[in-house]
Amino acid sequence: MKDKILVALDVETRDEALRLADTLRGSVGGFKIGSRLFTAEGPSMVRTLTERGDRVFLDLKFHDIPNTVATAVAAAAGLGVWMVNVHAGGGTAMMRAAREAAHETAATRNRPAPLVIAVTVLTSMSQAALRETGVVIDLMDHVLRLAELAKEAELDGVVASPRETASIRARCGAGFAIVTPGIRGGAAAATKDDQERTMSPADAVAAGASYLVVGRPIIGASDPREAAQRIADSLGSVADKAEGRR
Ligand code: C5P
Repeated sequence: MKDKILVALDVETRDEALRLADTLRGSVGGFKIGSRLFTAEGPSMVRTLTERGDRVFLDLKFHDIPNTVATAVAAAAGLGVWMVNVHAGGGTAMMRAAREAAHETAATRNRPAPLVIAVTVLTSMSQAALRETGVVIDLMDHVLRLAELAKEAELDGVVASPRETASIRARCGAGFAIVTPGIRGGAAAATKDDQERTMSPADAVAAGASYLVVGRPIIGASDPREAAQRIADSLGSVADKAEGRR
């Protein structure tokens, strides 16, 4: 179950990120690199981790015309990332182009294609904020619609808040990856930081999460390895809907 834990390397520098990865390697399933670290330290940071055998989720949320997104995803696949994401709002053609680029690039390098997943509605968006953008349907309906669109485009899954996970799992079935941040409480630190709608690691997996993105409860702990281990242990007995088991 430790493979389900993806640690958000939300730190300033390459040195800090590599130190954390060295500490946590073997205790977790992979590392998430977001736009902050990527913009500061660049692709060599990603390549260093993939060359060390780490699974890297490159969280850059591409959203552009299909050709641009496809070439960006191809570049990510070239770095050897394990997972990359795009915005479902970019539409089916964009998502399909992303998937094809991931598979084509991986095939030319003789390695497995990265998982391509979609962001549905950013969890920072409220119903009112969504309405301002011209989307007047219920926020959860919009999330489910975009998740279904991602599935139709043959993407591998979506990023979802804990409170959306169960509905997406019910709608999209087993085998569709759901990556869930906002993990707090239970075996993870209870401090909410800036997260509002949180769920414990065990509850998130029971709701259908395939992977948990965990940042501060692990990287901010006095002993990050022990914190990760405690979370992994708490998942041991949870029914796993992501794999189709109950
Ligand atoms: O420290 P914490 O566990 O809150 O970190 C969660 C990570 O997941 C951060 O990198 C954050 O940007 C990301 N994330 C999130 N909520 C989303 C999407 C991504 O917290 N809806």
